[in-house]
Amino acid sequence: MQLLMMGPPGAGKGTQAAKLVKKFSIPQISTGDMFRAAVKEGTELGKAAKACMDAGKLVPDEVTIGIVRERLAKDDCKNGFILDGFPRTVEQADALKKILAELGMKLTQVLNIHVPAEDLIERAVGRRICKNCGATYHVKFHPTKVAGTCDDCGGELYQRGDDNEATMKKRLSVYEASTRPLIDYYKGAGIYTEIDGRQAIDKVTEDLVSVLSSVKD
Ligand code: AP5
Ligand code: MG
Ligand code: ZN
Repeated sequence: MQLLMMGPPGAGKGTQAAKLVKKFSIPQISTGDMFRAAVKEGTELGKAAKACMDAGKLVPDEVTIGIVRERLAKDDCKNGFILDGFPRTVEQADALKKILAELGMKLTQVLNIHVPAEDLIERAVGRRICKNCGATYHVKFHPTKVAGTCDDCGGELYQRGDDNEATMKKRLSVYEASTRPLIDYYKGAGIYTEIDGRQAIDKVTEDLVSVLSSVKD
């Protein structure tokens, strides 16, 4: 299954992708996670990406397309993958089509998690992530059993640098201008489904799995 998980910042793409990874044993490809890993490692890519991410802007298309092209060519993508946060511009979507054609693949399904703008800032500001295993929590909607400690591995939680109200407002306006147009881009292809992301986390997963159970690979 070649899946594309779409949705505005904070909609639940990463949370849901992690659940589908477990269920379908295919990798999650999150450009945001890849950029954050590069920032941590202090690579050239990380240095270039950090300034954009801190400002809530998109990393330039040529950089982003390059890392996705390399990632999709890896062996573990042969049985499928879940793209999370890519593409975010029409240029990236056109490039994805070309990359997949070169690899003899195409998208099976586009899943758009819909959450109204007014809920998204609260979701981002309250998000907490495990430093050790990357599990995602929320102080109100998905709290850990012990404050500040990951339920899965006991790791320490941290807050992303771009998860503050000011940067989130910028990310939402970038989404409206550059990424929302992709809804129409994919609607025309007949593989697009919208999921109500305001429901409880497990109910959203249930809806996604139900869509995927009727999809031909
Ligand atoms: P990225 O890391 O992709 O961030 P994003 O798109 O802004 O999305 P988020 O990761 O913030 O949200 P999510 O949808 O994954 O939500 P989550 O599941 O965590 O990108 C970061 C930056 O990298 C960009 O700004 C850009 O600079 C750069 N970048 C990345 N990709 C790029 C690209 N293709 N081109 C150019 N630049 C790129 O959930 C959020 C919170 O809500 C969590 O706390 C969670 O517990 C909670 N939650 C989840 N589901 C629910 C629910 N159903 N009910 C209540 N709470 C919920
Ligand atoms: Mg994410
Ligand atoms: Zn953990």
